[in-house]
Amino acid sequence: MANRTLVAFASRTGNTRKVADAIAHAVGGELVDVRTSLHCDLAQAGFLFVGDGVYMGRPSRAMVRFLQRLSVPAGVKAAVFGTYGAQAKQLDVLSRLLQEKGIEVVDRFACPGRDWFALGLLHRGRPNADDLRAAQAFARRAVGG
Ligand SMILES: Cc1cc2nc3c(=O)[nH]c(=O)nc-3n(C[C@H](O)[C@H](O)[C@H](O)COP(=O)(O)O)c2cc1C
Repeated sequence: MANRTLVAFASRTGNTRKVADAIAHAVGGELVDVRTSLHCDLAQAGFLFVGDGVYMGRPSRAMVRFLQRLSVPAGVKAAVFGTYGAQAKQLDVLSRLLQEKGIEVVDRFACPGRDWFALGLLHRGRPNADDLRAAQAFARRAVGG
């Protein structure tokens, strides 16, 4: 039975990692940090969460490489999430890369993340507890629907 849930993420300054942790906790998912584990076993995977920050309007190179190499069993669904300083443009790229693999993207979630490009002055304290609760609600909806 294909019932494993994986939460693949990249996080340069730790914000998206907090969201990934919260999601994994909410749905009993296995965390995969794509910056340190380039190979990920998707056997028996039923659902895939993919999350990243946005850097100059793009997802991280590590995540793009990970998704390009991904080989997934048929029928896997996905949801994308991320943190941002101004606009979560990475989610469009992540969704497109997944769809190119034949994976249906059922939902998306984004919240602000403390922005070190703005010297840490923008979105201090984000993601906060409310953001993480919203991320968990999104995750439960995504796997349930
Ligand atoms: C080098 C750099 C570039 C960034 N570029 C963007 C950007 O183009 N658009 C945006 O909305 N936020 C931008 N940000 C803000 C980050 O996306 C935001 O802080 C995010 O939470 C970082 O995620 P992470 O901590 O998981 O790496 C940038 C931050 C850094 C450090």
